[in-house]
Amino acid sequence: MPSSRLSGPSMPVTPVSHLASLRPEALAAPESGIVELFNYGRGRQGLLPLWVGEGDLPTPEFIRRAAADSFAAGETFYTHQRGLPETREAISRYMTRHYGTNNGPDSYFVTVGGMHALQIAVRLVAGVGDDVLVVTPGWPNFAGSLAAAGASAIDVPLDLRFKPAGGLQWALDLDRMAASISQKTRAIVVNSPGNPTGWTASLAELEGILSLARAHGLWIIADEIYGRLTYDAPRAPSFHDLADASDRILYIQTLSKNWAMTGWRIGWLEGPAGLGQVIENLIQYSTSGVAVPIQRGAIAALDQGETFVAHQLARFRQSRDILCSALEASGRVRFAKPEGAFYLFAAIEGEADSSALAKRLVDEAGVGVAPGNAFGPGGEDHLRLCFACSPERTAEAADRLVRWLAR
Ligand SMILES: Cc1ncc(COP(=O)(O)O)c(C=O)c1O
Repeated sequence: MPSSRLSGPSMPVTPVSHLASLRPEALAAPESGIVELFNYGRGRQGLLPLWVGEGDLPTPEFIRRAAADSFAAGETFYTHQRGLPETREAISRYMTRHYGTNNGPDSYFVTVGGMHALQIAVRLVAGVGDDVLVVTPGWPNFAGSLAAAGASAIDVPLDLRFKPAGGLQWALDLDRMAASISQKTRAIVVNSPGNPTGWTASLAELEGILSLARAHGLWIIADEIYGRLTYDAPRAPSFHDLADASDRILYIQTLSKNWAMTGWRIGWLEGPAGLGQVIENLIQYSTSGVAVPIQRGAIAALDQGETFVAHQLARFRQSRDILCSALEASGRVRFAKPEGAFYLFAAIEGEADSSALAKRLVDEAGVGVAPGNAFGPGGEDHLRLCFACSPERTAEAADRLVRWLAR
């Protein structure tokens, strides 16, 4: 029987003693509220799942072929920690085309999806005892990865306000953000367009955040992964539109959503000049790089993937409009129509406990949604519905929800 240093050679090791001897940062990493619901409803016959942030289209064939050709050619060896020079050049071309940047390939670091880019960004700027401001409701992995690094997420809740032209809109209160900064604050996480709200920061909001960061010497972790998935403009406003070389900004990007590559695990981190060796080291000691065939697929996506992005966006728009119209007509649902990303974040009249409600929707309506309390303050009485699947499936899910609401 194995023994631990604490229990002595003859005593059985219990799971409790294992847990008690772990690092507090590891224990502080919370269980994802989305996964909890997913586990609750997994395998239910006929369930329509809108809980996970991905669509129902497989990766386009030309991208899969590029990866398959690379495997067939035997590209199976260790590779550059930062990513192949060709991948970083493709990212640089892509960013110049869509964001007008003129950074060379040295600004970009290929990572295992957006999540790995986030993890490295957190490691670069925050650790035990540090505070990081996070705009909420927000993707739970921001608070989770900060907790796992020993840092604390300080929530800065968005407001749900009436728009002058009618309807609701999520908005950032910059004074609230400024008041949340303390001696311990090291960084601000800004995810725009946002998961789960679809909040798309205006240029003025980004300018306000940037001036706070400049005034207090803070880093910005800019998660702009949904930047191309916008419904009122060709792309969302970006810190790239405002920043100069002296700004402390780390950008999170991924190929997961634009090119239906969630399972591939490839994205990138962009940082200011001069960080190259440090970031390369952190990649070396975490994943040691991304498999070459996956990078070949990514190059094909970045260079030839615009038709597919447009195709997906048209589907998302159709699904968004179907879901919003159906729920609006029910008269029992309150939400801001999302300006970007592919989530509807909605509150149902008279339902304050989002976890209990999400479970009832699995059992009684046959629809899987994510509970709003998984996304931090401001979302407790909300549900997140992902509308990245086909308009037909979205219409069926909307129908089930409306029938459930009318019971
Ligand atoms: C806001 C946000 N950032 C990053 C990611 C991570 O993307 P990836 O799947 O590439 O790790 C997600 C995934 O849902 C997300 O919603």
